[in-house]
Amino acid sequence: MDVVGVGALNLDLITGASAVGGSPLLARIDAHTGLRPPLESGSERLVEEPAVRAALECLRAEGVPLTPELGGSAFNALHALARLGRGLRLGYVSVAGSSPLEAVDPLAVLDGLGIDRSLVLPDPERLCGICLSVHDGGERTLLTHTGANTGIAGHVRRNFEEIAGTLAGARVVHVTSFLDPDGGAALRRLLDAVRERSPRTIVTFDPGHAWSTAPSDDVLAMAAASDYLLLNEREFTDLAPLLPGLRGTAVVKYPDRVEVRRPGSVERWTHRPLRDGEIEDATGAGDVFAAGVLAALAANRALLGAGVRLGMALAAHKLRHVGARGHDGFRAITGDFLRHPSRVR
Ligand SMILES: Nc1ncnc2c1ncn2[C@@H]1O[C@H](COP(=O)(O)OP(=O)(O)OP(=O)(O)O)[C@@H](O)[C@H]1O
Ligand SMILES: [Mg+2]
Repeated sequence: MDVVGVGALNLDLITGASAVGGSPLLARIDAHTGLRPPLESGSERLVEEPAVRAALECLRAEGVPLTPELGGSAFNALHALARLGRGLRLGYVSVAGSSPLEAVDPLAVLDGLGIDRSLVLPDPERLCGICLSVHDGGERTLLTHTGANTGIAGHVRRNFEEIAGTLAGARVVHVTSFLDPDGGAALRRLLDAVRERSPRTIVTFDPGHAWSTAPSDDVLAMAAASDYLLLNEREFTDLAPLLPGLRGTAVVKYPDRVEVRRPGSVERWTHRPLRDGEIEDATGAGDVFAAGVLAALAANRALLGAGVRLGMALAAHKLRHVGARGHDGFRAITGDFLRHPSRVR
């Protein structure tokens, strides 16, 4: 396969900025859920099922429309890859719980996108992961319930040979966080096995907010062993001091640029930052950016710079749309990029 994603599967419930109209929504959710300490704007918080339900109830009471979509960081990247229209062979490794909304069935969504799900374990007994993204004051705050995703460590352990074999046969393996106390250790063993069996397989790692703020030894080991680390500014600030002598390449996202940091060198690609008013929904924009990078790496490592620019163009487009509503445009953006690489900004 070209790219295999390893990560959580979540039902993303997104509130778009324009729908909220600048009301202090976060404070109301705090009051309703009784979460302590209160939610910090722009952060990600792990919550139990009752808090997710209370937050949903609050949004319903406020009349805030929710857009339900299948998500999870690696899934978002694979979703975007599937929509580039390049015929990439894609696969996913995860656990799929049951969805509280009939409209979104995780396995059917994967099938619809042509993403191989033979290594996605169905777990109908548990609720799938849920990720509620709240926009307030230009920032998005995430409330995450891990649900069936906590089964990943067991899934990897029980099916180790099959999963390691598939990953070792891929050009690129893209790993993101599982927010499972055991998930890091299982993934670390898996990546070590892939590294050993297939040194040519490219490993990309996007640890996300939670694994960057409080990285375990396993997370740090995976970061150190990855070929490419995908990080936003905050994640880079948190992780960089903990990774002295990093051999891999860090690709760091900023509002006005992307930096490619290799030992001893930094390359910068700049773009015009969108203003708050132009941004409809930032959730998953980093994952859409990752799709550009992954598509390039699957073709050839030397194309990383082109992948960064394609990723920036895709992300800028995504930022203007809630959820995946703008993804129909990815095929044309990719086509234009391949025809006129220097024109796309
Ligand atoms: N204001 C902005 N205008 C234009 N591009 C932006 C802006 N802010 C971020 N970007 C770009 O959007 C992409 C996503 O950046 P961001 O920092 O949101 O990633 P992230 O936090 O990892 O996102 P997620 O984890 O939700 O997918 C990057 O390519 C970044 O350069
Ligand atoms: Mg991210």
